[in-house]
Amino acid sequence: MQTIEAMMTRRSIRNFCATPVSDTQLEILLAAAMNAPSAGDGRPWHFVVTKDRARLDALADTVDGGNAMFRQAQAAILICLDESLEKFKGFAPQDCACAAQNLQLAAHDIGLGTVWIAVIGIPPRVAGCRAVLGVPENIVPFALFPLGVPAQTLPAERRFDPSKVHLDRW
Ligand SMILES: Cc1cc2nc3c(=O)[nH]c(=O)nc-3n(C[C@H](O)[C@H](O)[C@H](O)COP(=O)(O)O)c2cc1C
Repeated sequence: MQTIEAMMTRRSIRNFCATPVSDTQLEILLAAAMNAPSAGDGRPWHFVVTKDRARLDALADTVDGGNAMFRQAQAAILICLDESLEKFKGFAPQDCACAAQNLQLAAHDIGLGTVWIAVIGIPPRVAGCRAVLGVPENIVPFALFPLGVPAQTLPAERRFDPSKVHLDRW
């Protein structure tokens, strides 16, 4: 899949098949995420990866109000933010967001579905990730990505909106 095609056809997937996600697939996603740009090349991130059924089910309850998507997911990756690795203060959320989008596009490219589950700034979700995935206090859970082969097909959407474009000057 070409890059533009991946960007224009990716959708958030919240229903997954029972097909397992392989370690090779997970490594592709992690490598794509870690190849993201970051301010000063600081790479202020860590990734918690799980395929453990009990933990995935626990994430459903602790992070997303029992949301069935975690019970269907075959794996999940939690992107964590490590402020101690920041090269320029305050840039780590932008760096982690770049990693997150790389991860989502890579998943789509290899036929997996995922959805960005917001964690940072939502105290019960942060606490849930710490409890289920053992994230230490000095590390901030940033965003969680349930993963699996899509069990739903969502159409590509073209959201180009000329009213959001300001030519030469606002
Ligand atoms: C920063 C961010 C936070 C999001 N948080 C959630 C979330 O907590 N739960 C969820 O189901 N979807 C979440 N999403 C997914 C959005 O709902 C989704 O991207 C949006 O509706 C557009 O749909 P699409 O991804 O299929 O293009 C989040 C997306 C972003 C970028």
